[in-house]
Parts: sequence; structure tokens; C-alpha cells
Amino acid sequence: MQKAIGVLTSGGDAPGMNAAVRAVARAAIVRGYKVYGIQRGYNGLLNGEVEELCERDVSGVIQRGGTVLYTARCKEFTTPEGVKKGAEKCRELGIEGLVVIGGDGSFRGARDLCGEGIRCIGLPGTIDNDISCTEYTIGYDTAMNTAVEMIDKLRDTAQSHDRCSVVEVMGRHAGWIALNVGLAVGAIGILVPEIPYDLGKLSAKIKKSQANRKQHFIVVVAEGAVATANTSSSEDIAKKLMELSGIETRATILGHVQRGGAPTLRDRVIASEMGYYAVELLNAGASNRVVGLKNGKVYDIDINEGLAMKKPFDEKLYRAADEISF
Ligand code: F6P
Repeated sequence: MQKAIGVLTSGGDAPGMNAAVRAVARAAIVRGYKVYGIQRGYNGLLNGEVEELCERDVSGVIQRGGTVLYTARCKEFTTPEGVKKGAEKCRELGIEGLVVIGGDGSFRGARDLCGEGIRCIGLPGTIDNDISCTEYTIGYDTAMNTAVEMIDKLRDTAQSHDRCSVVEVMGRHAGWIALNVGLAVGAIGILVPEIPYDLGKLSAKIKKSQANRKQHFIVVVAEGAVATANTSSSEDIAKKLMELSGIETRATILGHVQRGGAPTLRDRVIASEMGYYAVELLNAGASNRVVGLKNGKVYDIDINEGLAMKKPFDEKLYRAADEISF
């Protein structure tokens, strides 16, 4: 039986996943592997939604957002029975190595599958950049650029009306998108789950700037920061800021638009590099590794070690952004 490698995308989709799938497929094919594209994450492995990927099947996908393999979250794969069944399916297909593109939850599944004798490599794919063992996750750059483009449009209308625009960006547990996007749009306030904030102080800062001839304001809120200030939604934050500052305020939730669209050059290049690297690892006999970026270079680390790491928030950049926006 020809040796085979499987590839799947799991969890929330992220622009650049297709570039990673293409790189995995092509790098494996030139090394003599048969490649299986597994659809809808671990669900597809369990349900047999598996198709061979030939070189031309991954043509014309590098520039496409979303994931051509579809994606899903799979409850069954969090059980030992589900993982055993997944390993059995891999053996039936002759899959000796699997590349899993997703986040921490997907890596836990990969680690468990390794425990059942299937060699797995994880690639970080999520727009949130919230995977601790890597400086960068596939999709992050595209999502931030999308958010910046949208907020630039919001600024036009905020400026015309002398308003404050409260914009919620994605990041259920992390403020990376909010921090960088907030800095890039010159937001007067950036609310992230990692750093406590006070709407009273923010409104005082807004009023001081208004007294100094600033007439419109952008506040960027990470999705995960909404609940940390005893607020229930971005609408609620906007309402409270309006009450405190007296400035007309509107809330906008950018939502899933941030997950779509053509990947940027950075996402295409990093995803390709990581996909290629994953196949090199499998070809060299490695298993239970996550590929990441460290000091700007692609590297790999044991999945368990990677999952146990903590990613310190960039407080210095946060303070800088805060200090220079007034
Ligand atoms: O991809 C990460 C993320 O975008 C989070 O920021 C967000 O909370 C979550 O996914 C939402 O995902 P879904 O709507 O697919 O459950």
C-alpha cells in the first residue's frame, strides 16, 4: 500500500488555511505520498468524508478564503472511543501521518490520536492569534486587515457626525486583534480581556481630547473584553460611554466578516511555509508536534509542551497605543 498523509482543517476557519492545505498536499505528493483531504475536521474522519487530493485538486485555492476542506468542531473526538475510531479509520486508509490545521482544541485531538499510534502534526490556524506556542497564527493578518478596512469606513461616518464609534472585533479569549487593529486605526481606547479597564477613565480621556479639538472617536473592543467591565454587550459599552461623555455614540460588531476574504500575502506565505514544514517533519518520522513561529522563524514543539505554554500579552504595545492616542 502506498504510504499516505491526511490533512484536515478543524475549529473556526481562517484565511490562509487553503494555502496550508495546498502546501501539505504538494509537498507530500512530491515525496511519493498519497494525500487524503479529510472534510469537516475530525467529523469527516469518523464519517468517512475523505477524498484523495491530487496535485490539481489544490490548484486555484491559495488565494481563496475559508477552507476547501470545510471545517467543524467534533464532540465525539473528545471521547476516547471517538479517538480510537479515528485511529482505526486512519489505519484502514493507510494514513500514517496527519496534518491538523486548527487551534488548541484541534491539537488536543491530534495529541490523543498520536496516543493511538497515528503520527500527527498541528498547524496553528485561527484569526485570534491566541495559540501560546507561536507568535503567529494563520489568518491573523488577513482578519486584522479586514477589520482596519471596515473601521476606516466607520471613521468616515463618525467624523461626519462628530460621533464616537465603538467597534467590537473578534477574540473570544484574546485581545491581539483588538490591540493591533486599535493601534492601526488610532483608537482612543482599546478594551481587551487581558488588561482591566474603566469606562469612567476612558470617557474622561475622550472629554479631555474633545476639549482639545478632537471631534470624533474610535473605541475598539475585543469580543472577550465585553464582560470584563460589567457590561453585557458592545451596545451596552456604547450606551455607558454616551451617558458618561455626553457624546453621541454608536456600536458596531464586525463579526464573522473578519474570518472571510482572500488571505493576505503574509498569511499565504506563512501558511505555505508551515504546511511544507509539517510534511518535512512527518517525512522525517516526527510525531506529536505543533509548528509555530518563534523569533520570526518556523519551528516545532511537542504538542503537550505547546498546550501548556502561556502567551504573555504585549502590554508595552498596549501602553504605547494608549499614550499616543489623544
Ligand atoms: O476563530 C476564532 C473566533 O473567531 C473567535 O474570535 C470567536 O469567538 C469564535 O471564533 C466564533 O466562532 P463560531 O461563530 O464559529 O463559533
